[in-house]
Amino acid sequence: MSISKYILFTVLNTIVIYGAYAQHNIPQVEELLQQMTLEEKIGQLNLVTPGGGIATGSVVSDNVEAKIKAGKVGGLFGVAGPEKIKIAQDFAVNHTRLRIPLLFGSDVIHGYKTTFPIPLGLASSWDMELIKKTAQIAAKEATADGINWNFSPMVDIARDPRWGRIAEGAGEDPYLGSAIAKAMVQGYQGDNLSNDKTMLATVKHLALYGAVDGGRDYNSVDMGRVKMFNQYLPPYKAAIDAGVSSVMTSFNDIDGIPASGNKWLLTDLLRDRWGFDGFVVSDYTSVNEMIAHGLGDLQAVSALALNAGLDMDMVGEGFLTTMKNSVEEGKVSEDQITKACRRILEAKYKLGLFEDPYRYIDTKRSAKDILNEENRKIAREAAARSFVLLKNHENILPLKKVIKIALVGPLANNKKNMLGTWAPTGNPQLSVSILDGLKKVAPRATIAYAKGANISNDTELATKVNVFGPRIEIDKRTPEEMLQEALELADESDVVVAVVGEATEMSGEASSRTDLSIPEAQKKLIRALVATGKPIALVLMSGRPMTIPEELALPVSILQAWHPGVEAGNAIADVLFGDYNPAGKLTATWPVNVGQIPIYYSMKNTGRPATSETFQKFKSNYLDAPNAPLLPFGYGLSYTQFKYSDLSIDKEEIGQGQSVTVTVNLKNTGNYDGEEVVQLYLRDVVRSITPPIRELKGFKKVFLRKGETRTITLALAPEDLKFYNGQLDFVSEPGEFEVYVGTDSNVTEKVTFSLK
Ligand code: NOJ
Repeated sequence: MSISKYILFTVLNTIVIYGAYAQHNIPQVEELLQQMTLEEKIGQLNLVTPGGGIATGSVVSDNVEAKIKAGKVGGLFGVAGPEKIKIAQDFAVNHTRLRIPLLFGSDVIHGYKTTFPIPLGLASSWDMELIKKTAQIAAKEATADGINWNFSPMVDIARDPRWGRIAEGAGEDPYLGSAIAKAMVQGYQGDNLSNDKTMLATVKHLALYGAVDGGRDYNSVDMGRVKMFNQYLPPYKAAIDAGVSSVMTSFNDIDGIPASGNKWLLTDLLRDRWGFDGFVVSDYTSVNEMIAHGLGDLQAVSALALNAGLDMDMVGEGFLTTMKNSVEEGKVSEDQITKACRRILEAKYKLGLFEDPYRYIDTKRSAKDILNEENRKIAREAAARSFVLLKNHENILPLKKVIKIALVGPLANNKKNMLGTWAPTGNPQLSVSILDGLKKVAPRATIAYAKGANISNDTELATKVNVFGPRIEIDKRTPEEMLQEALELADESDVVVAVVGEATEMSGEASSRTDLSIPEAQKKLIRALVATGKPIALVLMSGRPMTIPEELALPVSILQAWHPGVEAGNAIADVLFGDYNPAGKLTATWPVNVGQIPIYYSMKNTGRPATSETFQKFKSNYLDAPNAPLLPFGYGLSYTQFKYSDLSIDKEEIGQGQSVTVTVNLKNTGNYDGEEVVQLYLRDVVRSITPPIRELKGFKKVFLRKGETRTITLALAPEDLKFYNGQLDFVSEPGEFEVYVGTDSNVTEKVTFSLK
């Protein structure tokens, strides 16, 4: 071997050894593993909840204290507050042989105590810095309370608004979803996990959970690999590329094997292809649920899960109770258990828990860092930025601050429904109602309130929705009495603000719906208000896209406010009175009716595309509904107007590995300063597998003063032209590309270039 080759060999070898050393073989962890018995290793794979928080399954763990003291628990969730967490950590650190500290997990989905808008709302801001900031605040607050492991971000692509958990994610698009996944991981984890204000993040739910059949929660998924790789997997991968520490499996099956036991998913894809080196946790009892899926008894499904690459078993205790037998019977190897245990111990090491098991327990911090003024300010801003103006009939909005307002609707003076789904650590009573917000922001306005209608008059629905407390409260008065009161107020007022929509638990986990319209009780209220002839602004709250063709056709303004979080009322007032000009854009398509679902902007052309909205026989269309959605992806209005012009591209032809840059002039032509999300969509005209009609490949949120014009530049990098081909290779293929730049996914202005 020549000298130079020898040097190269040594250097490469050192890199390889160091790489292995850096990822695995943390000396303290290896030392510990040497000392651990098989039972102790299995204990680390067990995640339990005493059921203090919200249990999302029928089972909760028992004898938690005894199990911790016996070394049978690796982590705990659903326990909050530094005092309780300290007690539990004491059990582990002072009573077990090896004194291994516990992980403390929690679902901090959209804020800890400072509840931000639901994730679908936050996504509508298209503001990555803001989203990252909300994750940072969530981590700072949760860690102040002793939590060091977050079960977020949820990045499941959802193209079916029947699925209630669409509320928890970023919507339908893999490009936007990937950007948000990255921002959230960075926000939670920061640069240094041993910093006591950062926590482990978990990307969930691997994989495809948003594509359950019929939008029914926990249902099966059947999807080809090409669609999976191009449309559904990118956000999980983005979280992994951003360094996420753990991955949670999904409940659904993929190609007939539930995610928690799917070796292709958890090993071939996640570890071998994507290089993930953190740990994988199951979802709540999802290992045991493989019994109901039809894959065998508890021992069989637990062995299946471990062998597939699952490291930690949430709540079900199949690992705890069967793994030793499985080792003895040769169904799993001790080596596989050691690997899983190592990954969990490494996470504890990264958090600095071996150095100081109480690092995240500091009562002084929780008093100072949680729900403080500064955090509430960001929550207010985040909420305002999440709202999407769907319609502004005759510029009813913004409202003047000296005005007589009839504030009506079941969500208008209602704190219980402001936080949105999956806010178990938030306190609804601390949220600002719309009534309080309007009064505070416009003290000189005359504001009178009437409920006007129940969220729904359906008592059966109310019982199903009220599992975590009253969300749908059916008034003692008759619907007619309530309506009468509202109409009288409307008659005496200059304008009506009606706050309507879904209760928080009408979306979220196990809250799928097949009817996505505003409940009938409220529809009646809206119709009657419109009949008064008064100007009407609807504030619509929901955890999903709704089917509102009737309301959209009415002479009303509509502000989509999702479930806005703890600062709901203040943020809504800021927007209604024009202190903040709304700029949110939809991140999931709003269908005309449920029959159009699944509907998303990046559909394929088909071999028989309809060429007009008039029905065409033997073309791909419906007899009874248009192909076009009610509102497209990327849609959202402003109080001002924006005009796009002079779209141009710097090159008409590029080679592999080269970028193109497009520019467009954007002018604020209206009467208000405002922000616009400039969106870039790419169409790959011809390729080896059928392309979507267009796909988002860039966006920029810009602020323009009224009258201002700015040249906006967006670049397309070489990887933006790539897709996973039939062999699942990530490639770009020569040919023509069309680039569309504009205000939403319907934009028609384009430039073209070709790739050699
Ligand atoms: C079930 C949910 O699917 C998951 O998102 C959550 O993190 C766990 N329950 C724990 O609460």
